[in-house]
Amino acid sequence: MKILILGVNGFIGHHLTNRILAQTDWIVYGMDLADDRLGEAVNNPRFHFLEGDMAINKEWIEYHIKKCDVVLPLVAIATPKLYVEDPIGVYNLDFEMNLAVVKQCVKYHKRVVFPSTSEVYGACTDPEFKEDESFLVVGPIQKERWIYSCCKQLLDRVIYAYGTRGHLEFTLFRPFNWIGPRLDSLDVAKEGSSRVVTQFIAELLMKRPISLVDGGHQKRCFTYVDDGISALMKILENKNDICKSEIINIGNPDNECSVKELADILKNLFMAHPAHRNDKAYSEIIEASAMSYYGKGYQDIYSRKPSIEKARKLLDWKPEIGLKDALRMTLDSFLEENKGAV
Ligand code: UGA
Repeated sequence: MKILILGVNGFIGHHLTNRILAQTDWIVYGMDLADDRLGEAVNNPRFHFLEGDMAINKEWIEYHIKKCDVVLPLVAIATPKLYVEDPIGVYNLDFEMNLAVVKQCVKYHKRVVFPSTSEVYGACTDPEFKEDESFLVVGPIQKERWIYSCCKQLLDRVIYAYGTRGHLEFTLFRPFNWIGPRLDSLDVAKEGSSRVVTQFIAELLMKRPISLVDGGHQKRCFTYVDDGISALMKILENKNDICKSEIINIGNPDNECSVKELADILKNLFMAHPAHRNDKAYSEIIEASAMSYYGKGYQDIYSRKPSIEKARKLLDWKPEIGLKDALRMTLDSFLEENKGAV
């Protein structure tokens, strides 16, 4: 099988590529702005990489859509701080550029495996979000955070409409707060715009305070990337077309915790880490208002838990890695990779 991955150096892209190269005989064609997360993959004869921008290398993309069997358009801005700072950038990249790729998949009759997101459920109040039942709930236009959710939702709807009319073979997957090695870089965290787990680990390393936005009562279910990738591999395999035209949550409902609990666990792990157990001081945990941390365009999601019944049934999959282990492995790898950087 030949697979095209746009955004191959991203968090999901590089983990997926490594798994594909290790466990299958598939060929991967990938494009991204850099290759720094890809490690040894770049030397693998089954991996073909182009360093480049999606906005510029349109011919390369079209050529490879034609050449491949499955397309994964993983390029997107996916950090909430940027949703409020640069909503037009989110729209251009996450929506317009990806729509162009989807249309080419229609044109050349290629299967698309598209990354939807837990964010499409927005402020849904269901105790567990169900792919085919839950309402997708967003806030007012002035709350620009929701542009990401809306862009992804509309793409989901466009893909679904093409698919159900027989013009496109697709599967939509919805990652729920995947974490693991190389989630976000230290540089991004320095600017305060990485996702919460990396942000907190980086603050601990930099000895800066950890900010609990609005008290940190919000809850997330953190999913270890290896578990997520296992599900994604089964979606790519698509045995007996089982995932055809399906929308599938990929998350770990057992790993639910509040942002405040998350801060405590990560601080304790950091304080017990061999390289830091003798540090003279540690970050304090403080509270910050959403307004001061993100600005007026932000609105939070207080509870986000996936139903994974569908993933269990269709993929015969369940997540294996518990919260503490997932956080420990994420923290250890971040500290290892940024040794001496601060
Ligand atoms: C994320 C991002 O939108 C995407 O990466 C993705 O689509 C989706 O969720 C997902 O991974 O499922 P969110 O979970 O809100 O959204 O993003 P984080 O930045 O990781 O924030 C999680 C929570 O921590 C939020 O309630 C936020 O207010 C809080 N937070 C974040 C803090 O309290 N302090 C911080 O320093 C950073």
